[in-house]
Amino acid sequence: MKEYWHNDWKSKLHELSLFDFETIWSLDLQPIEPPNVGRGGESYVGKLMLPNSNQSIYIKHQENHQRRTISHPFQGKPTTAVEFGYLKQYHHLNIPSLLPLYAGQRTKNSNHEALLITLGLDEHVSLDNLYQQISQLPKTEFDNWHHFLLKHIAEILNRLHQAKIQHSALYPKHILVNQHYEKRDIRIIDLEKSRKRLLKHFCQRRDIDCLFRHADFWNIDDQQVFLSHYFKAKNSKQIESFSKKLQKYTKKKSKK
Ligand SMILES: Nc1ncnc2c1ncn2[C@@H]1O[C@H](COP(=O)(O)OP(=O)(O)O)[C@@H](O)[C@H]1O
Ligand SMILES: [Mg+2]
Repeated sequence: MKEYWHNDWKSKLHELSLFDFETIWSLDLQPIEPPNVGRGGESYVGKLMLPNSNQSIYIKHQENHQRRTISHPFQGKPTTAVEFGYLKQYHHLNIPSLLPLYAGQRTKNSNHEALLITLGLDEHVSLDNLYQQISQLPKTEFDNWHHFLLKHIAEILNRLHQAKIQHSALYPKHILVNQHYEKRDIRIIDLEKSRKRLLKHFCQRRDIDCLFRHADFWNIDDQQVFLSHYFKAKNSKQIESFSKKLQKYTKKKSKK
């Protein structure tokens, strides 16, 4: 059994009667989104509240949800284990994500079972939900939010891509933002599809294409502002050339 427990959280999880893999595995969790049934298995996420507090934890529960990696080319590795590895890497690169509290995996009756518990972000909402909320605000307040989001998401993504890591599922629902503006707290979540690429250029195209296609609250001008922060551009040539390549890529992708 491979297991990780966050030192400071082990006793709190025990208070919830989460003592070991078996007790966590046997929880009767309500999936918060429809279970993911790809990869020949199943994966879903459930939420639990800690007793006498407003703090939640999220549990990713997987059965035969494997991904082939260089170190596990045949059987693959549970995607929660891949995600756990990237949570550590993102942290190391100062890319804000989730705090892992527990990770474990086992093989039982030839089934690969895996779990990942993260600390709940209870003050956060997804980027698309946030835009719905802030569109109701007076113009100056909306503008503050809007410029903060464009700049900081671009900077976070740039740091990730400098390290040649591609998120690979950069939808607005995987960017969580603290609703208290003064906290200025943005997290990138769901790292199970993250992968290391040979060239930074591949990460840029793939992630920015995904984000722009789904972030319908950003118009073309907003996208240009985003790119100017992303490239820290003093002249517009780099942005122009990237925008052209991105357009071609997006066209090709949307034909598929
Ligand atoms: N620690 C967390 N705090 C807040 N919300 C979370 C947390 N973990 C997961 N979620 C919510 O659960 C959803 C599913 O989690 P995700 O990691 O995207 O799993 P999946 O691999 O099933 O897509 C997320 O989109 C997010 O809304
Ligand atoms: Mg997801």
